[in-house]
Amino acid sequence: MSAEFDKHAASYDGGLDNPVKRMMGDQADQFIAVKTRWLMRQEPKLKEGGLAVLDYGCGAGDLMRVLALSGGRADFTGCDVSTGMLAEVARRWPATLGEPPRTAPQDGARTPFADASFDVVTISAVLHHVPVAERPAVYRELGRVLKPGGRLYVFEHNPRNPLVRHVIARTPIDRNAILLDANEVRHGLLDAARYELDSDYLMFMPPGIAFLRGVDRLLTWLPMGAQYAVAARKAA
Ligand SMILES: C[S@@+](CC[C@H](N)C(=O)[O-])C[C@H]1O[C@@H](n2cnc3c(N)ncnc32)[C@H](O)[C@@H]1O
Repeated sequence: MSAEFDKHAASYDGGLDNPVKRMMGDQADQFIAVKTRWLMRQEPKLKEGGLAVLDYGCGAGDLMRVLALSGGRADFTGCDVSTGMLAEVARRWPATLGEPPRTAPQDGARTPFADASFDVVTISAVLHHVPVAERPAVYRELGRVLKPGGRLYVFEHNPRNPLVRHVIARTPIDRNAILLDANEVRHGLLDAARYELDSDYLMFMPPGIAFLRGVDRLLTWLPMGAQYAVAARKAA
């Protein structure tokens, strides 16, 4: 898997080579901003700074970069199994944002961080690339590095949305993808640690059309959005 994403790293654009996805929004950041706007609402302290945030499977660091560009302030760290993708983090980080996030390569699911290192952990568009048998190790690692009382946010493509399945089946970087629904995430997390869980569905409207954003906020309960987010607060 590492080698596979190494190959895509320099030109990685979040699957925008798919024409149907491009009709929904012509910039990869528009899709990521749907998640970062939601995340900023869950974690208002991101506006103040001071949280230690890990983006697990950060790829080229796009989630951290879009968060920072929209006013998110945090002590950012990214990790990934692909060193090629990690090399993109600093390369794509605008100088105006200051120092790029720290990055660290993973050894499979395992990260080099001490137990309970992070206040907030995000994992976005990663689990569908992890073979099913290896997912429990990822859930355990996420729970290990999160502080008691820390929050974990899992963002994934929603397999219940037919357009998502259409796009994933025709996107080269998703050739090996096995989509998972929010229930699988919830069960996987609870098998690994004690959490209070909540979930929202996101991206009902094309991310490229700004004036429709309000509609998305009314529909978070409906399990048909293109994405979902599982929010997990670790027991203190
Ligand atoms: C579609 S990209 C998403 C990158 C980033 N999270 C984002 O939202 O832009 C999937 C990422 O998952 C990483 N990945 C694949 N298998 C992984 C695993 N077992 N553990 C951690 N990361 C993995 C890949 O290297 C790649 O960077």
